[in-house]
Amino acid sequence: MPDQPPKTVLISGGTDGMGRATALARLAAGDRVTVIGSDEAKGRALLAETAHPRLSFLRADLSSIAENERVAAAIHERYESLDALALFANRVHPKRRETAEGLESTFALYYLSRYLLGRLLTPLLDAAPAPVIVNIAGVGNTAGRIHWADPQLTHDYGQIRAQLQAGRANDLLGVAFAAHSDSRARYVLYHPGFTRSGADNHPTPLVRASIKLLGRFFAREVSEAVAPVVRWIGHPPDAPLTALDRHKPVPLTLKSLNPAAATRLESYTESLTHLPGRPGQP
Ligand SMILES: NC(=O)c1ccc[n+]([C@@H]2O[C@H](COP(=O)([O-])OP(=O)(O)OC[C@H]3O[C@@H](n4cnc5c(N)ncnc54)[C@H](OP(=O)(O)O)[C@@H]3O)[C@@H](O)[C@H]2O)c1
Repeated sequence: MPDQPPKTVLISGGTDGMGRATALARLAAGDRVTVIGSDEAKGRALLAETAHPRLSFLRADLSSIAENERVAAAIHERYESLDALALFANRVHPKRRETAEGLESTFALYYLSRYLLGRLLTPLLDAAPAPVIVNIAGVGNTAGRIHWADPQLTHDYGQIRAQLQAGRANDLLGVAFAAHSDSRARYVLYHPGFTRSGADNHPTPLVRASIKLLGRFFAREVSEAVAPVVRWIGHPPDAPLTALDRHKPVPLTLKSLNPAAATRLESYTESLTHLPGRPGQP
């Protein structure tokens, strides 16, 4: 039985791994859940498997700016308010790939989509009584950085470099959202730690097999990793910004959460997306 009024929840990357587990847990709690993934067959299989009237699937390639805008428009059309946005979508690319809009694919999917969905859905989130955005990435990890001279990694691409940069960008996204957005939505940055999910989606067979083997011994169960996300959707934290690395709160003074860098990244991102500036900005 639901312990509170049902919520409206949108989950990017909700067709697999941790996003899927979060979707199923929130359905069980009575919520209305929309999941986004790029693979039509995977989404349809989830719908067929659950046969749940409160579950919807939206197919979209979230590495595209236009697709994020289309998804946001569809959600605006479908709902009058949004209680929770949970951001899981990510994919590793061994070789540099560019999106149709000319952006490096990891940057576009793992970071920019999260920026766009948060920003474009803010009016709907603000129409909910206690809205929350949960960004599942790698907060607390200080490896990697924003490559300010070449954020699209045109000269020196590597899959780990791209993943770490986008991870650090997500840290800064949370800082900027909490500081600048004027939204009532609480922002949560969450690092789930090494978890038994995602390995099947790794494009390199040897890496896939190695991650799976290591995962059998060292990774967390998916249900354990997503438990805080499921809770935050039910009961958002009071603070504008919360950061948690597995069970450990991350101090907001950590160098990877630097407010000046967050503002700098926000300006760069605005220049890419041509969205209007924040209120009060030129
Ligand atoms: N697993 C770990 O050990 C671990 C550790 C630390 C952080 N994380 C982070 O946690 C998050 C979730 O990881 P996970 O292991 O649950 O991943 P996963 O099982 O690989 O799931 C990824 C999800 O993203 C979707 N997706 C991928 N490309 C997409 C695109 N272009 N457009 C729309 N959706 C797309 C996938 O659906 P389709 O296949 O249908 O596109 C899938 O639903 C990621 O951000 C990851 O970086 C994971």
